[in-house]
Amino acid sequence: MDKLVVNGGSPLTGPLTVGGSKNTALPLMAATLLADGPSRITNVPDLRDVRTFSNVIRVAGPAVSFDAEANTLTIDASTVNHPVAPYDLVKKMRASFYMLGALIGRTGEAKVSLPGGCAWGPRPVDLHIEGMKEFGAEIELEEGYVIASAPGGRLTGGSFRLDPSSVGATINLLLGAVRAAGPSRIENAAMEPDVVAFGRALQDMGAQIDGLGTRTIEVQGVDTLSPISVRNTPDRIELGTFMLMAASAGAPGHPVEINRGTHEHLGQDFKNRLAETGVDVEYEDECVTVTRPDRIAPVSIETAPYPGFPTDLQAQWTVLLATTDGTATVTDTIYDDRFKHVPELQRLGVDISVNGNTATVEGGPPIKGAQVMSTDLRASVSLVMAGMIAEGTTHVLRVYHLDRGYEDLEGKLRRAGIDIWRDEYEELSDRDETEAREAA
Ligand code: EPZ
Repeated sequence: MDKLVVNGGSPLTGPLTVGGSKNTALPLMAATLLADGPSRITNVPDLRDVRTFSNVIRVAGPAVSFDAEANTLTIDASTVNHPVAPYDLVKKMRASFYMLGALIGRTGEAKVSLPGGCAWGPRPVDLHIEGMKEFGAEIELEEGYVIASAPGGRLTGGSFRLDPSSVGATINLLLGAVRAAGPSRIENAAMEPDVVAFGRALQDMGAQIDGLGTRTIEVQGVDTLSPISVRNTPDRIELGTFMLMAASAGAPGHPVEINRGTHEHLGQDFKNRLAETGVDVEYEDECVTVTRPDRIAPVSIETAPYPGFPTDLQAQWTVLLATTDGTATVTDTIYDDRFKHVPELQRLGVDISVNGNTATVEGGPPIKGAQVMSTDLRASVSLVMAGMIAEGTTHVLRVYHLDRGYEDLEGKLRRAGIDIWRDEYEELSDRDETEAREAA
């Protein structure tokens, strides 16, 4: 199994380059199933999630080829003859659930594994299911699968209000609506740049969509869509992550350049909060320059749907707060259990505690390297961030979580001044652990 090893203390000098967006690439991949022919997506990051979703799509029949060197994905959806997304693949990545909208939109039927747990449990998909029913699908839940069919092979279209607003449900409902027989309306729709870029690609394929980027999206169903050649957007969360790394691990007064991001996709709230900390940020066309000041003010944040503070950057923000000299809080209003990085940060000496959906960080105590465990994608990158500013060496274990969403992070950071490398290690199995304990 892989881990990342970081020797803390060397400043992040940059420059850094932002890759293609994970959360835009995945819906773009799903969209190609709606067209009978070969589509091409460029600027696709070489990530575990992209490779996993490629395998999910192959099961349904399309030919998928990925040129990792060129970051280019080709999906030929001429054949979609097995409208199934199996549990063993869907369980690896929640976004595989986009196959519900893609398959029912293309073939009029779908058998898609629930992403994990039940439809209404942790990380639910009830909005996806209720919305698809409203658009004319008949849906059964059987043995952990969603079995959906459109009477007569085509959804009718309909009107559905998302409560709460949901990125994934907006994407799935658009996938089902664009080839429906009649009009559809999605209220309280997600406005994330990922959703807007995905919707614009559907428009380029011939879909009739109004209201992208607003809370109300109207769709007029069409009979067919054409294959597409589209460039994926830059990853806004990688950009935000790099900015917070520069703010935390940059040398005071030394600017760090971050290239090829689209800073408008960060949302104004993130920019405002970062400015309040005293970190100096210059936004140019495709370059953001971040300069850490001598002192960073502790600023509290609260996540919200776009254009609010992204929940995917809250773990990284807790590490920035650890480098301040005061107290501040991080509240996640989107997920109330997204603090699995907290016990690991405590192992590094960060003074952080959680009460409900709010973490409180007391900046100041020295951060000291240790072995820490990744638990999910953004938690693991916050541990790397902490390792960069820790005294001594930090081992971030189970880095397969990180590989889901960051392409060659250790290579990018090493070229930007950080003493970091990838290493292999064996995890003690339960049996080994018992034997080790008995031998002690
Ligand atoms: C997307 O997940 C992103 N994933 C997540 O990024 C991101 O954290 C999240 O949006 C919020 O911005 C991808 O784009 C692949 P939601 P998604 O549906 O679509 C509740 C990362 O790190 N909800 O917008 O699954 C849900 O429980 C990942 O890259 C329902 O109640 O998120 C949550 O509280 C992690 N019922 C809220 O809505 C539903 O049917 C927002 O979730 C669906 C969602």
